[in-house]
Amino acid sequence: MSFKGQHILSVQQFNRDAILDVFRIARQMSPYASRKKRTTVLEGAILGNLFFEPSTRTRVSFGCAFNLLGGEVRETTGMESSALSKGESLYDTARVISSYSDVIAMRHPQAGSVAEFAQGSRVPVLNGGDGANEHPTQALLDLFTIEQELAASSQSIDGMHIAMVGDLKFGRTVHSLSKLLSLYQNVKVILISPSELAMPDEILNALSNAGHQLTITDKLEGNLNADIVYQTRIQEERFPSKEEANRYRGKFRLNQEIYTRHCKSNTVIMHPLPRDSRLEANELDNDLNLNPNLAIFRQADNGILVRMALFALCLGVENQVDKFECAVPWYSNK
Ligand code: CP
Repeated sequence: MSFKGQHILSVQQFNRDAILDVFRIARQMSPYASRKKRTTVLEGAILGNLFFEPSTRTRVSFGCAFNLLGGEVRETTGMESSALSKGESLYDTARVISSYSDVIAMRHPQAGSVAEFAQGSRVPVLNGGDGANEHPTQALLDLFTIEQELAASSQSIDGMHIAMVGDLKFGRTVHSLSKLLSLYQNVKVILISPSELAMPDEILNALSNAGHQLTITDKLEGNLNADIVYQTRIQEERFPSKEEANRYRGKFRLNQEIYTRHCKSNTVIMHPLPRDSRLEANELDNDLNLNPNLAIFRQADNGILVRMALFALCLGVENQVDKFECAVPWYSNK
């Protein structure tokens, strides 16, 4: 499966072989991601990093990943600072930015917007999140993290038990992750949410067509005895009003006391971040920060590896990264 010149818009473009390729290349990026070595394989290339919706991790890690491959980054943040706010179409923006760039990463609040943008682009476009639809690079880094965390107890994704918790209706990360999980076998999936924020039918169908054992519930207690607990934030920005979102905030909190009572001793805790740490929400309490099974920051770190791998694949340089390696003077002087 070749990704050279391809857009990455949905996880549905990936099969298990393609995922293995991405993960193999991601692992090879480790010395570059940790700045022990550097590579100039993308020297002269430019990433157009277009974020029309707030982001910390995805925007910065796309930029860092591209810099770590030797490329340069130009970015725009926020709708109001872009000509989209003057009525420019996604198509026109794509035509213009794609002649300034060799690859584009983009986030936008509307579902389907990144695919629409890609139609006008002359270079590969990577979806950094389109509304409540998909977040494919997040799902790949989530799956990479799950594989890594489960390997510590000699488990694999096939046959694992995962509980997804929170806003499963608007949470694009759980949509993309669930679609990827439908490529695996015998996964036990527990979906914990208020009934109003349940997983969309399309995703439920993908999971049940894969033959996975599905449980749908609005109860946290008794349903956390899983290999992975994937907690999510109430996606306030997708609700008609803040008051509406407030109805669900803080309903499914996880803290050390609940973890000790309801999880296995080695249940891995994941969250795509940002976690909402305001008192009224606090879905993942700070008292879990010292729990060795809290994988949220390892998960965020893996974003660099996976995004480096995706850039290398889309630009067709995945086999040349080491050929252009060089020393990092400040690192070796430490
Ligand atoms: N996980 C994630 O998409 O985080 P940001 O919103 O900070 O990019």
